[in-house]
Amino acid sequence: MSHEAEIQDGGLWPPDVQPTADFLSTLEFVQNTRGNLFVTGRAGTGKSTLLRAIVRSLDGEVVIGAPTGIAALNVGGQTLHSLFRLPREGLLLDGDEDQANPRDIFEVDDLALVIDEVSMVRSDVLHAIDLALRELRQTDAPFGGVRVIAFGDTHQLPPVLSNGEDVRLEEAFGGAFFFHAPAARSMRMVELTEVFRQKDERFVAILNQIREGRITDEALAELNARVGTMPPAEAHRWVWLCTTNAEAAAVNRRCLDALAGEPRIYRAAINGEFDGYAGRRIGSDALPAERELVLKIGARVIFIRNDRYRRWVNGTTGVVTRLAEDEIEVTTDVGDELTVGFDTWTKYRRVKIDKQVRQEEVGSMSQLPLRLGWAITIHKSQGMTLDSVVFNAPRSLFAPGQAYVGLSRARSLERLLLRRPLTRRDILLSDDALAYRSLLMPLSGARQED
Ligand SMILES: Nc1ncnc2c1ncn2[C@@H]1O[C@H](COP(=O)(O)OP(=O)(O)OP(=O)(O)O)[C@@H](O)[C@H]1O
Ligand SMILES: [Mg+2]
Repeated sequence: MSHEAEIQDGGLWPPDVQPTADFLSTLEFVQNTRGNLFVTGRAGTGKSTLLRAIVRSLDGEVVIGAPTGIAALNVGGQTLHSLFRLPREGLLLDGDEDQANPRDIFEVDDLALVIDEVSMVRSDVLHAIDLALRELRQTDAPFGGVRVIAFGDTHQLPPVLSNGEDVRLEEAFGGAFFFHAPAARSMRMVELTEVFRQKDERFVAILNQIREGRITDEALAELNARVGTMPPAEAHRWVWLCTTNAEAAAVNRRCLDALAGEPRIYRAAINGEFDGYAGRRIGSDALPAERELVLKIGARVIFIRNDRYRRWVNGTTGVVTRLAEDEIEVTTDVGDELTVGFDTWTKYRRVKIDKQVRQEEVGSMSQLPLRLGWAITIHKSQGMTLDSVVFNAPRSLFAPGQAYVGLSRARSLERLLLRRPLTRRDILLSDDALAYRSLLMPLSGARQED
C-alpha cells in the first residue's frame, strides 16, 4: 500500500484526488498556525487522504500514530502503544498515568503528532500522553507543546472498554472518548462533508442512515438484498469482516481447510509467566500471537508486528509461498518476497521500589509474527478501503458504529455480501458521539450544521 510512490515530487495529493475547499482551508490552517486540530467527517470523506497531505506539507518533525496496527499502516505510522510504550491492559488512572513513556523522538523541538482513527483512543490514554509530554518537555502547555492533529469519526468504533472501565472514565473525565481528556480542549475542529469512497449515491445514503441510526424500510431491504452465503469464485480478493476474533478465526480456519495441500503446524514457545495476558478485554487476544499457527502454501496471512529491519509492518498482508521447519516465505500484496522467522515477545512487570519504577522480565513467547488473513475483525478494518467485502456477522452486532464501520469499508453494494439480513437491532449508536461539538471550537467561525 504505497501511497508515497504515486505522488509527484513536491506534490501533496495523489493524481486521482481533487482537494475540496475544506481540504484546502484545513491545510491553510495547519500551515499558517501552530494550533491543535481535530478533523472529522463520515467514513470515506478523505480524512486519511488529507492527513497524508498535511504530513507532507509540514516542515518540522512529524510522528504519526494510530490505535491499531492496520490504521497506522494506512497512514505510514506506528501504534500509539509502541510510540508511548503503553501497557496492553488496564486504565492509566489512579497513579498509573505515568505508564506512558514517550520515545526519544518526542524531545525534538518543532514536533507534530498526527493521530488517525482517534475515535478509538481512550480519554485516559490521551490524558496520559499529555502528562508524559509535559513532563518530558518540561512545559505546561497542552501535550508539552507538541502540536497534535487528530483525525477520526466518533460515529465509527469507540474505544474498546472492559467491564466497569466506562464508569471509571465517566467519573474521571466525563467520558471515554479522546475529546473528554482535558488537553483535547486545545483542539479546534473541522468537519469534511463529501464522501469519496463510494460513488453510488444510493449506497452513500444507505450508509448515512446506518451511521445516524435511522434506517428506512426501503434502505434496509436494499441492503439485505445483498445477502448471499459464499462469495462468487472470481479473481477478487474478498475480505471477511467479523465481529469477534473467535469468529474471524473460524472463518480463517474454513478458508484454510478449503485450500489443497499439507498443513504445517507452528507451535509457540512460551516461557515464564505469559498466560497472564488471559484476554481480559472482550474481543481481544489472550496472547500476542497464535499458540498454534496452522499454515498451508497459498494461505493468506497478515503480519501482527513491525519487523525490526522494516521489511514488513503490523498490518502487511500477503500469501504463503514456502513452509520450512522454522521459517516460511511470504509474497506480500505489493510483491515483496520475504523470509520470515520466529519472533520473540517479552512481558515485563513494573515494580516500584522507593518510588523508582523498574521493568522486570516475567516471561516471553516465540512465534511467527503473523496470522491467517482472509478474515479480520471489523475493529481492525477501521480506516481500510476494500474492494470486496463479506460482512460476516452471524449474531447480533454489539458495539456502536460496528455496522457502519464494516459496511462502509466497501466501495460498492455490488461487491458487498451479507451473511444474514441486518435488522434495526444491529445498528447501535453511541450516546456521546456528538459531544465533541459542544466541547471543541469549529475552525470556521460559523457553527457546524447539525
Ligand atoms: N478529494 C478526493 N478526491 C477523490 N478521491 C478521494 C478524495 N479524498 C479521498 N478520496 C478517496 O476516497 C477513499 C477514502 O478516503 P480516506 O480513506 O482518506 O477516507 P477517510 O475519511 O479516512 O475514511 P475512514 O473514516 O473510513 O477512515 C480513498 O480511496 C481515497 O483515495
Ligand atoms: Mg481514514
